[in-house]
Amino acid sequence: MALAALLLLLLAPCAAEPPEPAEPPDALFAAGSEAYARGDWPAVILHMERALRARGALRSQLVRCRLRCANSSAWPAGEPGPPPALRDLLFFRQLLRRAACLRACAPAAPSRYLLGEELELEFRKRSPYNYLQVAYFKIHKIDKAVAAAHTFFVGNPDHVEMRQNLEYYQMMAGVKESDFTDLEAKPHMHEFRLGVKFYTEEQPHPAILHLEKALEEYFVADTECRALCEGPYDYEGYNYLEYNADLVQAITDHYGQVLSCKQSCVTELASQPGRDKPIEDFLPSHFNYLQFAYYNSGNYEKAIECAKTYLLFFPNDEVMNQNLAYYTAVLGERLAAPIGPRENIQVYRQRSLLEKELLFFSYDAFGIPFVDPDTWTPEEVIPKRLREKQKVERETAARISEEIGNLMKEIETLVEEKTKESVDMSKFVREGGPLLYDGLSIAMNSRLLNGSQRVVVDGVISEEECVELQKLTNAAASAGDGYRGKTSPHTPSETFYGVTVYKALKLGQEGKVSMHSARLYYNVTEKVRRVMESYFRLDTPLYFSYSHLVCRTAIEDKQADRTDSSHAVHVDNCILNAEAMVCVKEPPAYTFRDYSAILYLNGDFEGGAFYFTELDTTTVTAEVQPQCGRAVGFSSGSENPHGVKAVTKGQRCAIALWFTLDPRHSERERVQADDLVKMLFNTEEVDLSQLKGPEAELPGTTDAPGQSVEGKDEL
Ligand SMILES: *[C@@H]1O[C@H](CO)[C@@H](O)[C@H](O)[C@H]1NC(C)=O
Ligand SMILES: *[C@@H]1O[C@H](CO)[C@@H](O)[C@H](O)[C@H]1NC(C)=O
Ligand SMILES: *[C@@H]1O[C@H](CO)[C@@H](O)[C@H](O)[C@H]1NC(C)=O
Repeated sequence: MALAALLLLLLAPCAAEPPEPAEPPDALFAAGSEAYARGDWPAVILHMERALRARGALRSQLVRCRLRCANSSAWPAGEPGPPPALRDLLFFRQLLRRAACLRACAPAAPSRYLLGEELELEFRKRSPYNYLQVAYFKIHKIDKAVAAAHTFFVGNPDHVEMRQNLEYYQMMAGVKESDFTDLEAKPHMHEFRLGVKFYTEEQPHPAILHLEKALEEYFVADTECRALCEGPYDYEGYNYLEYNADLVQAITDHYGQVLSCKQSCVTELASQPGRDKPIEDFLPSHFNYLQFAYYNSGNYEKAIECAKTYLLFFPNDEVMNQNLAYYTAVLGERLAAPIGPRENIQVYRQRSLLEKELLFFSYDAFGIPFVDPDTWTPEEVIPKRLREKQKVERETAARISEEIGNLMKEIETLVEEKTKESVDMSKFVREGGPLLYDGLSIAMNSRLLNGSQRVVVDGVISEEECVELQKLTNAAASAGDGYRGKTSPHTPSETFYGVTVYKALKLGQEGKVSMHSARLYYNVTEKVRRVMESYFRLDTPLYFSYSHLVCRTAIEDKQADRTDSSHAVHVDNCILNAEAMVCVKEPPAYTFRDYSAILYLNGDFEGGAFYFTELDTTTVTAEVQPQCGRAVGFSSGSENPHGVKAVTKGQRCAIALWFTLDPRHSERERVQADDLVKMLFNTEEVDLSQLKGPEAELPGTTDAPGQSVEGKDEL
């Protein structure tokens, strides 16, 4: 009879089977992370969402199938037991039927649907949500990005970057508190937390509602967890018996493994993602909360029921016995006495105790270790010889699991560092630092520029300084190589002239251009460098990689039917293949460039807008119109493809700057410029941080800008 009740408890209604996932979660996950590498955000979302769904579907399909099989082989309720002589055979007949049924639950192993262990770990770590939050952010579905970020963070509370992301999202306009949801929340835990929250706020009615719901969900989750235990025999983890064990031994061994797994569902269900320790005495604690909540709501019958249920686990609990006595006195002995503990919990406890008894027995008889996950197990269930041992083992197990937890964290940190490049979200949040100088203001940040690591700062230099620097270029152009009107390397419809800081200073020294202007140019580049370093909150200095003051001028009679750009879309530190949507970070790209900035000197021309695109080079995500004193700054990687629209009338002047975080790639010419400034102006105010880096001699760093083909990377 107890068995029948037990089975009823275990069996969930048999719903319609979900359609088998078209693609296995592992393939979908792989496709998702490939799409991520390409920066194909819609594909990331499509595949990762499908991977999560496919995994969920597989899991529930397996659970349902196993439960159905368990049902079909169950002893028909109410039938008398077989005579002893037939018991083994009948028992085996049932096993056979069940085995035949189970075969249909999953495709024969090795299944392409079975998740690899590593991939299973990825799902457990909630990695798909890390990819998803980036992808949703990129396509500006901020609410979904926030939910994905939150979901990932709940499972990885030590993840520094994600914490920063969440802080960033908190500050974003339009983000609601309700966006921060845990999409993977286990319903029983979610309800339990809510219940406890209301309980603490002394709101017994909602507390009861949620705690009762939590119990309901607990048993759903428990049923699933236990069904999933009935998997294949795990030789590796559980091979205590002789290899040539006989039939009964072999059965015992596997069955013991399954039972042990089922017992560990207690721990599994009481675990919260990202927390080291499961909640102790989780299931009984529901009744501790409930009895008091019911009492507070004036429901003494229920308070008594819950107190008695709690006492099933801890019959000697003093406080609970006192409570029970009090409730009983208030309600009256006559009404209180017939109220018993909850029946399903009695059954649960009985089954659990029987399992423990069997497991302890095989521990004692065969030495198959078992560590009881519960604290409420009565001593008499544990064989005498094991009692002291069990105590020590529980303590050791707790310690070891803590140590393993720490070790896992260390390993994860290491792994994370290695894989950081792929999902480095810190880029999205490391901005917003102070601008350092008066008169500067942020015109647009990454969010307004529809991307990451982007900023537009206004007021970097004054109107007079703009005019002076524009003059400087033109003076240098005619003074320098005696030519102005060299055709742009980017388009036949524009002329192009550029001068580096060092060259300008040299020309100033030779008296060919204004020394004041050359110094101003030098000063301004340093100002932009410092603003970039501060705004993007860089921990290490930014070094100049290359600086160029450039004017491009529309050639009047070459503008008709023009369809090209002033500078085609490109990425500063990798070679962009727009068709394949990949950016290869290899030489001859300037792979060491980390940040880029352009300071505009004027806006009185036609065309010439700066724009960001997706990796496809055609989807424009943001456009910036140049004007005097405006600087656009951004990280130099594949997240920021950019170009310049055709200048169709007039002259467009700007200072283009590239920076590196790697001192080995600090520009040699800059050091020469620093030296020259020091010599010419006899000052100490040169920023020394710029002088420390470059110790290694770089090949080809003579007077000429050795690292850049003239104009190759102009903006
Ligand atoms: C198990 O069997 C019982 C009766 O035999 C039935 O009512 C119940 O729906 C079955 N459950 C499943 C999951 O098949
Ligand atoms: C350049 O900066 C220095 C100090 O940082 C200042 O003394 C000097 O006047 C500036 N020169 C120009 C031309 O801006
Ligand atoms: C960002 O995208 C929105 C919507 O597509 C667009 O209206 C806006 O102009 C873009 N921002 C910039 C700076 O171009």
